[in-house]
Amino acid sequence: MAAVPAADIERRVLLIVSGGIAAYKALETVRLLRKAGVAVRCVLTRGGAQFVTALSLQALSEDKVYDDLWSLTDESEMGHIELSRQADLVVVAPASADILAKMTAGMADDLATTVLLATDKPVLVAPAMNVRMWEHAATQSNLETLVRRGVSVIGPNEGPMACGEYGPGRLVEPEALTAAVLRRLNAAPAASAGADRPLAGRRALVTSGPTHEPIDPVRYIANRSSGRQGHAIAAALAALGAEVTLVSGPTQLPDPAGVAVVRIETAAQMEAACRAALPADVAVCAAAVADWRVADRGAHKLKKRPGEPPPPLPLAENPDILMGLSAPGPSRPALVVGFAAETEKVAEHAAEKRARKGCDWILANDVSEGSGTFGGADNEITLITAEGAEPWPRQTKAQAAEALARRIADHFKAAARDAAE
Ligand code: CTP
Repeated sequence: MAAVPAADIERRVLLIVSGGIAAYKALETVRLLRKAGVAVRCVLTRGGAQFVTALSLQALSEDKVYDDLWSLTDESEMGHIELSRQADLVVVAPASADILAKMTAGMADDLATTVLLATDKPVLVAPAMNVRMWEHAATQSNLETLVRRGVSVIGPNEGPMACGEYGPGRLVEPEALTAAVLRRLNAAPAASAGADRPLAGRRALVTSGPTHEPIDPVRYIANRSSGRQGHAIAAALAALGAEVTLVSGPTQLPDPAGVAVVRIETAAQMEAACRAALPADVAVCAAAVADWRVADRGAHKLKKRPGEPPPPLPLAENPDILMGLSAPGPSRPALVVGFAAETEKVAEHAAEKRARKGCDWILANDVSEGSGTFGGADNEITLITAEGAEPWPRQTKAQAAEALARRIADHFKAAARDAAE
């Protein structure tokens, strides 16, 4: 990434990194924000410095990191008032229980809290802490007060925690945080200037997550898809200016910012929601749609009857949504992209799938044992187009989503150029 002097960029974030194991996610968030053209200046609290270094933040933000209220150089170069004055948005991520309590009480005993007390800019906090600290009445009441005062909150997510417990308290993922920051910035008047939005005016449809196929009113067939890749793609397309509809099966993920989310459960509902979302310029099918549903879904709970064999569960085939969207016709999106999960001969099998389903591109995932793709943070993709196979480096799902969104933007740019010639 070319070095861009922070002060020359229109949209500016002051990121306060407080203490907590989740501070490492701040690093990825800085990278994603920089990639989206946002200038990031960081304030690192003493607690935060126990988990990430000022050097890492400095390298990623390409700017000086501020950590000391009493540094005479900083105060003469840039006082704490000036720090927030130069930002369009102040973000606290991770926001520890301690910093939230200090914000609520109006304490100002270090640079971060002094900036927060002095700022007149919008503030977004992304809490991260142990589940009991999060659920404590003190934290909840602090949050309520802060929200009443106009502070925006994103997260926390629910899941396994570094402390070994399970529950709400995890910092939202960097891509969701980045999208939330971009949305807040877009709401601000200074935001649009200089923004990189090559997909502005384009409509995108993305499917994500698993489907749940009911057996009876209380049971269902499901799969382990987390929805992370599909949600990241929706966020990345929106970050480039597309108007995105995300049709998602049940996931634990927060809605990506700036995206219209339609929540469904079954493949049939996903298909209907996709049809309703057309027309679209591009469709990306990242959902792990169940291949089959239970043919005769019981209206009542199946009863276990002593001495009787288990009930048979005849299956019926679900509609293939990717194939349906790829079928020629007036409502076919100009670009249809599917995924293929492969364990061997990745490019070969995915090319066959591309031909069979009629889509334009296939992103072939290597899901062989040990690849860590399923449910993991990384992805190893080979892009299959009419021109051939292009292996991408192993990267995070957020990076893969950004790469795809860029590729889609380039495709439309080239198509518009061809049409003009
Ligand atoms: N897909 C879909 N509707 C279905 C099934 C799949 O839209 N009913 C889409 C998925 O979103 C994905 C692609 O088709 O884009 C995956 O195709 P699929 O045939 O399910 O292949 P794999 O998951 O790769 O597995 P397999 O080859 O074992 O069938």
